[in-house]
Amino acid sequence: MRVGIIGVGHVGASVAVSVLQAGAARELLLHDRDGARAEGEAMDLAQGAPYYPRAKVRAVGLEEASRCDLVVFAAGRNGRPGESRLQLLADNFRVASEVGRLVGKHAGIVVAVSNPVDVLTRVLQQSSGLPPERVIGTGTMLDTARLRQALAVRLAVDSRSVHAQVLGEHGDSEIVQWSGAQVGGRPLRDWPGWTREDEQRLGHEVKRAAYEIIQRKGVTNHAIGFVTADLVRAILRDEHRVLTVTRCQTGGELDGLALSLPAIVGRNGATKVIPPALDDEEAAALQNSAQVLREAWAQLVP
Ligand code: LAC
Repeated sequence: MRVGIIGVGHVGASVAVSVLQAGAARELLLHDRDGARAEGEAMDLAQGAPYYPRAKVRAVGLEEASRCDLVVFAAGRNGRPGESRLQLLADNFRVASEVGRLVGKHAGIVVAVSNPVDVLTRVLQQSSGLPPERVIGTGTMLDTARLRQALAVRLAVDSRSVHAQVLGEHGDSEIVQWSGAQVGGRPLRDWPGWTREDEQRLGHEVKRAAYEIIQRKGVTNHAIGFVTADLVRAILRDEHRVLTVTRCQTGGELDGLALSLPAIVGRNGATKVIPPALDDEEAAALQNSAQVLREAWAQLVP
């Protein structure tokens, strides 16, 4: 399988490392508008060949990258300290539209990483004309990972034994589905000593995570690299795992809107959305998140 990464800045380069280490691709094609950067990254990664499963890495033009079986969209600018992800929309949606038109002719599946990832997923879906299930954003997969890690620390268990998820916007209006969180098959809210204060504190910690990192190192890239490689692997290995990815929803009041809900992910993309069982508070928060994304879209398409 050939995977193309369009945009090899900090995030795209981390995605490349994680995709190679995961053995998710046999051929990795890198494109960046800064051609020298793409060439340098390809050379640097290729020289690590003895340390990851066999794969070829090279720098290519935009047209060739867009012809891959799976294209990762990581182009555009990153957020500055204190800047919300939605504030990146004006600068990033044009490159998303351009890439969408290209990949729509050739690519099988598009994975969006750039922010605001929910709106850019919708831009890529509409400009590519690919079916909604084949244009997938990492969405709240990263927030879900952050939540699981934070809960693991609070409960002193491994994060892989924590089953909890974040839904909605990958951004300030995201929601934690506390009512569905489980550890060891037991509802989190039955956990001895668990309090609503824990939920408020950890929910805030997860929502603020990117801001705290960007304030310190200027960008987030490693965790999103792992997340994206995991998503690429789930698609290319047809794993049928349930992941909180963002994709344009079909039918109902969310029709056409891209936001993160649990979906079964395999070689045909995010094919089946699993409507989450939410309590009233969570359902209202998800509606709010949807409205935030509708208003962001309305800025593009007045
Ligand atoms: C973050 C970026 C990827 O949350 O949106 O770190």
